[in-house]
Amino acid sequence: MSWHPEQYARFAAERAQPFHDLCDLIHPVPPGSIGRAVDLGCGSGSLTVLAAERFGVEEMVGLDSSSEMLAEAEAIEQERVRFAYGDLSTWTADADHDLVLANASLQWVPDHRAVLARWVAALSPGGQLAVQVPANADHPSHLALAAVAHTEPFRSAFDGEPPPDPVAANVLAPEQYATILHDLGMETPHVRLQVYGHVLDSSAAVVEWTRGTSLTRFWPRLPAALHDPFVDAYRDALLERIGEVSPYFFAFKRILMWARSPRQPRG
Ligand SMILES: C[S@@+](CC[C@H](N)C(=O)[O-])C[C@H]1O[C@@H](n2cnc3c(N)ncnc32)[C@H](O)[C@@H]1O
Repeated sequence: MSWHPEQYARFAAERAQPFHDLCDLIHPVPPGSIGRAVDLGCGSGSLTVLAAERFGVEEMVGLDSSSEMLAEAEAIEQERVRFAYGDLSTWTADADHDLVLANASLQWVPDHRAVLARWVAALSPGGQLAVQVPANADHPSHLALAAVAHTEPFRSAFDGEPPPDPVAANVLAPEQYATILHDLGMETPHVRLQVYGHVLDSSAAVVEWTRGTSLTRFWPRLPAALHDPFVDAYRDALLERIGEVSPYFFAFKRILMWARSPRQPRG
């Protein structure tokens, strides 16, 4: 997967708001009581640093699998915040993390039940889990992408393989996350669906938003000569669905979840 940090950062304020809302779910702790924390899928690391400062974390690691994102993150490393290459889908630790944070990253991997089980296993007694995932698979921004991927000449370019799934099929319903967290023995899971209303300059600006995330799934699978035609076909298909509107209200659903590990060690 090829990430372009500068494209992702074009809507930095809109993308940061859910992160701040997620941090608001984390229960206040006395300064210094979060010894070890991790930010899984940390991206360019700026929000990782903010979280470490806000919660007075002694030792924070931001983990990501994109060399482009990590190059940005490493430039802002601090004594208490460092960044490392790793796969969030397999990451776990030995019940020694007081905070496991993942903002807008879990959706990139399948089998959330198993992944969340590994993250929960990494929590110390009383440790907190805070995760945010987009849940807008049914928005025209995604539906148009899926439709275009199944038209020529793009369909043939996938060599008979299905195109990358742009509809975030990995993401579960809020009540499924609540049930999973309960089944994993977490205390008082708080899971909610929130609609973020982003006012963009125009409906066509949704393409620029998608370029920073979902479209990146297609680039490793499509020849470079088809990248621009794909974006053009996507823009046409999208505007057909949502019209040419200025400004455009981009209603974006996200799931925010928080839960705490029991204070007594498990099992
Ligand atoms: C949408 S960005 C979010 C970045 C950051 N958390 C934020 O809120 O700004 C998703 C990040 O997840 C990372 N990512 C995707 N799949 C991953 C995986 N399997 N392991 C680690 N990081 C992954 C990407 O490289 C990217 O930096």
